[in-house]
Order: sequence, then C-alpha cells, then structure tokens
Amino acid sequence: METILAKTLGQENLSAAAEERRQLFSRLLGRLAHEIRNPLSSLDIHVQLLEEDLGDLAPQAKVKLAARVDVIRGELHRLDAIVEQFLRLADPSAPNVTAVDLAKVIGHVCDVLRPEAANRKIELIPHLSGRLPLVEADSDQLIQATLNLVINALQAVDHCGRIELRACRAKGGVDLEVQDTGTGIAAEHLEAIFEPYFTTKVEGNGLGLWIAQQIVAAHGGTIRAANVPGGGAVFRIHLPMRQRNSAHG
Ligand SMILES: Nc1ncnc2c1ncn2[C@@H]1O[C@H](COP(=O)(O)OP(=O)(O)O)[C@@H](O)[C@H]1O
Ligand SMILES: [Mg+2]
Repeated sequence: METILAKTLGQENLSAAAEERRQLFSRLLGRLAHEIRNPLSSLDIHVQLLEEDLGDLAPQAKVKLAARVDVIRGELHRLDAIVEQFLRLADPSAPNVTAVDLAKVIGHVCDVLRPEAANRKIELIPHLSGRLPLVEADSDQLIQATLNLVINALQAVDHCGRIELRACRAKGGVDLEVQDTGTGIAAEHLEAIFEPYFTTKVEGNGLGLWIAQQIVAAHGGTIRAANVPGGGAVFRIHLPMRQRNSAHG
C-alpha cells in the first residue's frame, strides 16, 4: 500500500482511487505533524530554560552541559524542519516558488552540516561550475531534499572520507549531485531506497529519500541513485528548466 502510494504520489495522471489514497495519506501526515509539533515546542521552551539555568553553574560544568544542550537544540531544529516538511507535503498548495540559485542551496547545506562533517573528519566539498541558471523552485524544500541526501552521505561515510556537492547545467535543466566515499548501496536495495520506511539503519526512519523524491517530483524533476565505481554512492537530482529561463541563464 505504501509502496503503491509512493510510486503514484507526484505523478501527473493519478487515477481516482490513487488520488483518494494520496489525499488520505496527506491528511494523516498533516495530523501527525500537528500532533508532534505541540510537544516539540514545549521541548524547545524547556531547552531555553535549561540554557538560562546553565548561567548559575560553575564554568567547567557549564561548558560540558552547554555542549549537550547545543546538540539537543540542533536535533530539535532538525525535527522541527521535518515536521514542517510534512506539513508542506500534506498541503501541496503551500510551496513558495521563487527564482532559486542552486549555488546558494548548496552553500546553505554545507554551512549547516560542516560542523557535523568536521566532527567525523569528513570533507564537504562544493563544486559549482560556471554560472548556473536559476530554477523556479521552493528554496526551503530544495534545501530540505539536499540536506536529506547529505545527511545520508555523512552516515554512509561515517568517519574519514569525502562528500562532494555538485551543481551543473544539464540537458533541459540543472543537475544537483551528492557523491560520497561511503559504503555504497547494495544492488538489491537500489530500487527500494526511495520507498517510505525503507531503511537499513538501526535508528533510521526510512523517510529521508522518500521526502526528497516527493519534493523533486513536485518540481517536475527526477532523483536517481547509483554506486560509484571506486566505492560510495551518488545521488543526482535533475530539475527541469522553464523555456524562458534556459534562454537567458
Ligand atoms: N549515501 C548513501 N550511501 C549508502 N546508502 C544510502 C545512502 N543514502 C541512502 N542510503 C540507503 O537508503 C536507505 C534509505 O534512506 P532514507 O530514506 O534517508 O532513510 P534512513 O536514512 O532513515 O535510513 C538507507 O537506510 C540506506 O540503506
Ligand atoms: Mg536518511
């Protein structure tokens, strides 16, 4: 059922039954997101209070605990972003479309994840070839999709390695690639990884790639995964260009 939904979601010619299922699924997602949001904001407030309480502590204890609180806050923000994403998926009328510079998307994602990459001794390398045409897209959604890919890459590399983010002109549009030096993807999983809830991780939720795919599909694009011959995986998002954009660029 979920597999069927995942495959039909985002495609243009939905059958009536599939459309009905999609709407039901959207409502469930929206409901779930709202339910999660309340305890999340309560957690956020308490983290803020904790930070204030830290002021009373001795310097040594303060440093140690402040680092922990930082991690908690970072994760809370990530959860909040996921919930936000679900709310948007649940209400597809919400996308905020502007002319987006993929270089900025890549820059932002690198800024957000560089501390985590540095902790793991993983190089995060952006490659931006020439002047890229702007794409008409929801910038936050593209950032979310790219974050999901790079987070997976960090987890696949785990420790010591390289993640390269590339944006370049491609036939009919723009390509955004995330390539890593990690474990690569088992051949028998290549089809399944985009299905909702498919995960090979003990603590995975199996939603990252599915969400990325939904976002890309909503932009009329495609997302593909492959293994790199020397080891590691590469994910390529292709976004189509509007005619009038490709004429300038
Ligand atoms: N860069 C990658 N290298 C190797 N495997 C990957 C990579 N990205 C995704 N995968 C595989 O795809 C699965 C699904 O990814 P995702 O939907 O993000 O869920 P999760 O990260 O929670 O497992 C992962 O569990 C993993 O097996
Ligand atoms: Mg993931």
